[in-house]
Amino acid sequence: MALRLLLHLALLGLGTARPSVPGRSLRAPAVVAWPSCFGLNSPLEGHEATQIPNNGSAPLLVAVQVFVTNVFNVDILRYTVSSVLLLRLSWLDTRLAWNASVHPRRVLTLPWDSLWTPGLTIQEALWVDWQDPSPRAQVDQDGHVELYLALTTETNCDFELLHFPRDQSNCTLSFYALSNTVTELEFQAHVVNEIVSVKREYVVRDLKTQVPPQQLVPCFQVSLHLQNTALKAVMALLVPGEALLLADMCGGLLPLQAAERTAYKVTLLLGYLVFHSSLVQALPSSSSCNPLLIHYFTILLLLLFVSTMETVLLAGLLAWDHLRAKRSPSPAPRGEQQAHDAGPSPEGATRGGAGSWRSWAEVADHTFFLFYVAGVVCSQFIFLGLWMWATCKSDPAPGEAVPHGGQPRL
Ligand SMILES: *[C@@H]1O[C@H](CO)[C@@H](O)[C@H](O)[C@H]1NC(C)=O
Ligand SMILES: *[C@@H]1O[C@H](CO)[C@@H](O)[C@H](O)[C@H]1NC(C)=O
Ligand SMILES: *[C@@H]1O[C@H](CO)[C@@H](O)[C@H](O)[C@H]1NC(C)=O
Repeated sequence: MALRLLLHLALLGLGTARPSVPGRSLRAPAVVAWPSCFGLNSPLEGHEATQIPNNGSAPLLVAVQVFVTNVFNVDILRYTVSSVLLLRLSWLDTRLAWNASVHPRRVLTLPWDSLWTPGLTIQEALWVDWQDPSPRAQVDQDGHVELYLALTTETNCDFELLHFPRDQSNCTLSFYALSNTVTELEFQAHVVNEIVSVKREYVVRDLKTQVPPQQLVPCFQVSLHLQNTALKAVMALLVPGEALLLADMCGGLLPLQAAERTAYKVTLLLGYLVFHSSLVQALPSSSSCNPLLIHYFTILLLLLFVSTMETVLLAGLLAWDHLRAKRSPSPAPRGEQQAHDAGPSPEGATRGGAGSWRSWAEVADHTFFLFYVAGVVCSQFIFLGLWMWATCKSDPAPGEAVPHGGQPRL
């Protein structure tokens, strides 16, 4: 079974002989009207109070109210959510009722291990910290039992990161009562949002509870609908990326001959590479729905790379041609020119050759610039469209994908 018994099961374990306070709970009837049938006449009777109350053929109904008081850490790199919950469990155990006219006390407080309590395990939990290791239950004269459990837990959650940093995910906490079966126990769960602090990157937008059908073990699930409202990620990722792209396009306006243009573009590319590596570190290494942003920044890198290469190539060709023209003012054109008309000097001839070459390079550069701007604008629109309409269906977990995997079912 895939259930992980990671929390303090000992706390809620059932069937353990009353460990710490047997004398007290057994003496209780004499003092505060504990029903006298719990004598130690037989070993079974000694444990009778810690057995689940019987409800005939129907399961015992346990009402659960889950108060979510804080979701204080959402770690997309480790796929975890940390939360603080308060559970209020209530059920009816008629064996604990007493005659109010004989014993006029209205409510009793009993240690949790002197009566039956449901043992709870959270399936997704990495760890659970039950804040009160020995909680006390309140029992009224009719046998209504109320038990409060406060816990802090870190649970696993499969985030949907396709739209990071505007992602929304549903994280589930499944509470199982492993020591009972569905024929003995049934949960009725409600959830209450008591989160007061909203100054968080991830905000809880919605809370839901459900009791999954056809389970072997009594279970209820709390689902947190988390939304990333991070302004930080937008500022740290999108704004610099767009600014770099814009700066790169503006770099295309510098004349090709200017030596600063190559330096400018190479500096931009270098800056972008540093930014890219920090971006990659800020995203989880794998996910069934990878953030669209990763593809966006990869395309950005390619665009910057192509534009830098174009500048370097054309500037290199120009410089090389300039050098060649300077080193060998070829005699043939000079003679030709002189033969044509004795006017132009050798410098004029070389300038003329380099000039045509230069104008060719300028035309190429200009054309490239137009294509580049069109490409950048197109890529932005394509990305916007993808962002609006792309959806991603997570792969099923390995346990659910195999024919006989997943939760045990009835
Ligand atoms: C016993 O089962 C019935 C039918 O499901 C339910 O209405 C009733 O509340 C249950 N009693 C207790 C004590 O859980
Ligand atoms: C409670 O005790 C009084 C006095 O002993 C008795 O008359 C009454 O019948 C008892 N009630 C119940 C419900 O047992
Ligand atoms: C997550 O929960 C919200 C509201 O509770 C719901 O609208 C949405 O469809 C859920 N998303 C998924 C993927 O289950």
